[in-house]
Amino acid sequence: MAESFPAPSQTAFVQQLNFWARDASNESAALLGAFALGLFGHLPDEGSAAPVSLETLASRMGGTVRGTRSVIEPLVGLGFVRLEEGRGYSLPAASSFLRRPDFAARMREALGWWLVSAKLPEAVRTGAPVDWHGESRDLLGWYRKEFLEPRAPAPSATAADYDDRAARNFLRTQALVTSGEVGLLDALVSGLRPLAELAKATGSHPESLRTLLEVLVCMGLVRREAESFGYTELAGRSLDASSLPYFQRAFPATMDYWEAFGHLDEAVTQRKFRLDLRDPETARRIYQRNASRITGIFASHVKLGRKAAELVASMRSLKEARVLDVGTGSGVWGAAFGLADPTVHVTYLDSEHVLEQVKPNIAKLKLDGRARYWAGDCLSVDYGEGQYDLILLPQVIPALPPEALPRLFGQLARALRPRGLLIISGYLLTDRRDGPLDALYFALRRYVSNEGDVLSMPDFRRLLEPVGLTSSRGFDMPIQQVVIASRGEVPWPDGLPSR
Ligand SMILES: C[S@@+](CC[C@H](N)C(=O)[O-])C[C@H]1O[C@@H](n2cnc3c(N)ncnc32)[C@H](O)[C@@H]1O
Repeated sequence: MAESFPAPSQTAFVQQLNFWARDASNESAALLGAFALGLFGHLPDEGSAAPVSLETLASRMGGTVRGTRSVIEPLVGLGFVRLEEGRGYSLPAASSFLRRPDFAARMREALGWWLVSAKLPEAVRTGAPVDWHGESRDLLGWYRKEFLEPRAPAPSATAADYDDRAARNFLRTQALVTSGEVGLLDALVSGLRPLAELAKATGSHPESLRTLLEVLVCMGLVRREAESFGYTELAGRSLDASSLPYFQRAFPATMDYWEAFGHLDEAVTQRKFRLDLRDPETARRIYQRNASRITGIFASHVKLGRKAAELVASMRSLKEARVLDVGTGSGVWGAAFGLADPTVHVTYLDSEHVLEQVKPNIAKLKLDGRARYWAGDCLSVDYGEGQYDLILLPQVIPALPPEALPRLFGQLARALRPRGLLIISGYLLTDRRDGPLDALYFALRRYVSNEGDVLSMPDFRRLLEPVGLTSSRGFDMPIQQVVIASRGEVPWPDGLPSR
C-alpha cells in the first residue's frame, strides 16, 4: 500500500472519521481554491517585504474581501501562510514550494477531479469511466493512482502535507459518501464478506468495488483477508448498526456544498454563488432538513442548551423569565431554558415551515403551555422595547448577512429588559481568527453559500458595544461556545474561565 496510518486510539479514529465526513472536503476546497485564485503569487516572502493587508490582497486577486479572508484564514490556521498582527499576510520559507510551477500544475490537475469525483457512486456501480461534459474520465483509475500506486516524492514534508490535504482529502470524503450511498457501510457491519457477495449486496461492479474497498483499507476502515473484506477492529467498534445512521447524517450537508466548492474561485471573484442560501427556496430546503436533523439528536442538544441555562442561572434568576429564541430551528435551545425553570415562558421565532417542526418537539416536552410561536423574518420583525429577559441566538449568526447584524443587535438590545442578557451560541473564533480549524471551515461554507460569517470575541464586541451591551464574555461549553452580553448590570460568575 502506498499509504499507511499508525494505529490510532478509538477516540482519535472517530474524530478522524468525522473529519473526513464533515471537514476534509472543506479543507481541500480552501487549499485548492487558493491555487485557482492565484493567491500565492500575490503574497510577499516572509521577511523580504512588508506583509500584504487583506484589502490589498483581495484587490490584487480581484476578489471580495470576505471571500479572500475565508480562503486565507484556514491557510493561516494550518500554518502554510503567516499572519502578522496588524500588518498582514506573507509566505513563510517552508511554504516556498507553493510557488513551484510543478506543484501548481499538480494542484490544478487535482482540482480538475473535484466535480467529477461526485460521480463516484456511478463509477462504482458501472465499472466504466464516467462522462464529464462529453469527455470520458477514468475516476477509479485516478483513485488507484492517488491511493494505491507508489507516489513521486514531494519537495518537503510540508509540501507532502499540503498535497495530501488538498488533493486527497476530498477524495477520502467522496469515498466515504459513496460507500454510504451504495450501501457498503451497512453491508460491512456483518463482518468479513467475500468481494462477490459485497458487490451483489451493493449492486456494484466487483472490480470497481475492489478499488473502493482498497481505498478504505488505506483509510484504516477496512481490512482484507484473501478475497474477503470487513471493517478493521476500530471501525467495527465505531460503526455499528446504531452509530452508522448518526455518522452518515453529515453526508447530505457535505454534498450540498460540493458544486459550490468546485467553483469557489467564482464565488470569491464574481460573487457567483452556486448554493445561494439567500434564495428563499434553497434556504427552505436546507433549513427544513437541518431542523429535522437536529430533531433527530434533540436529546443531546437539549443537554447542551441546559448547560447554558445553568450558566445563565448562576448569573441571574430564571424565575418568570421571558425568553426569545431567535432562529429556533428545532426549538432545542428555547426548550432547554423552558425545562430549566417551570415559570419560564419562551417565544420561538423562525420561518413558518421550520416552526411546524418545532411544535411537536415542544409538545412532547409538555412545554407548549408556556410557549409562543412567532413566524417571521428575524431581520424585519418588530421586537419592541423591554420585552425579554433573555434573548437566545443559537447558531443563527452565521446564517445571517453580516451587513444586517449592526441593526439586528441594536433592535435586540432595545428589546431586552433591565438586567437582560443576550446569549449567542455556536462557533467562536480565536481573537486572531486563526482557529479553531473546524470553525474556519464552517465559515468557508458560509461564504460559499452567500450566508453569514463566524465571529471572534473582538468581532462581537465591535457589534455589541455600540448598542449598549458593553459587558460580554465567551465561555467554552461542550461542543460549542456561548457568548453572553449585558449592559453591565449582571455580575459574571466567579472562577469560570472565559474570554
Ligand atoms: C443553523 S440553524 C440553527 C437552529 C437552532 N437554533 C439550533 O441551534 O439548532 C439556523 C436557523 O435560523 C433560521 N433563520 C435563518 N435566517 C432567518 C431569518 N432571517 N429569520 C428567522 N429565522 C432565520 C433558520 O430557519 C434556521 O432554523
